[in-house]
Amino acid sequence: MMARRADDDDDGIIGIGLGPAVRQRALAEAAAKLAARRQRDALPHRITTHRLTLRAPIRGDVPDLVRLADNRVIAERLARLPSPYTRADGVAFVEIFAQRPDERPYAIVLDERFIGVVGLSFHPGAAPELGYWLGEPYWRRGLMSEAAKAVCDAAFATRRIERIIARALPTNLASQRVLEKLGFTRGERGPSPANGREVVNFALDKPRWG
Ligand SMILES: CC(C)(COP(=O)(O)OP(=O)(O)OC[C@H]1O[C@@H](n2cnc3c(N)ncnc32)[C@H](O)[C@@H]1OP(=O)(O)O)[C@@H](O)C(=O)NCCC(=O)NCCS
Repeated sequence: MMARRADDDDDGIIGIGLGPAVRQRALAEAAAKLAARRQRDALPHRITTHRLTLRAPIRGDVPDLVRLADNRVIAERLARLPSPYTRADGVAFVEIFAQRPDERPYAIVLDERFIGVVGLSFHPGAAPELGYWLGEPYWRRGLMSEAAKAVCDAAFATRRIERIIARALPTNLASQRVLEKLGFTRGERGPSPANGREVVNFALDKPRWG
């Protein structure tokens, strides 16, 4: 019979046969994942602004999604947009990506047409990250400032989110301007965790009154 080590512990679902330090780390990771999931689930499914509706992406968005997202000018500013952007990418976005427990993307709808995406990505143990793109015909009308502000306001209203982060390429002045208009603070430059490209880091803390 094998001797039982002092740190043996096989009485839980997490950590069967694991030592206390490993089990504690696994529990902390599970708790952080759950907290991130709860943040995501606390966000509303629909947000309305002065001009826009933000709602879950649907299959009916796919034609406009593909037409607008298949644009190299947009893809080269984003870490995760396929280029060229095909119908299969559009369907995968609606059916798979949008269903992920660590993502809350909103379709941006203007006059009942899909025009872009804004959303938050949730990382266990870290602040959620704001991301967005808008179809090029709709740029420079203040629409993303309006959409992104609504998402940040909704996130802070959940009371589960204290800080939102964002990243933009140093050359992406329009995106940096959107973030500054929303009150984000510019931080250090550093490599994007998604692809290693240098990005400018931004953060917005929940406003405090009184
Ligand atoms: C970034 C993006 C979402 C901005 O959307 P938008 O609806 O045009 O943004 P807004 O009109 O709300 O605000 C843009 C601001 O940037 C300014 N701006 C636009 N182009 C600019 C440029 N080339 N240089 C400097 N400022 C610029 C606008 O004047 C405006 O500021 P203002 O209101 O003070 O005049 C849109 O350009 C886009 O989808 N780009 C490609 C994807 C992308 O970059 N996503 C973000 C990745 S971090």
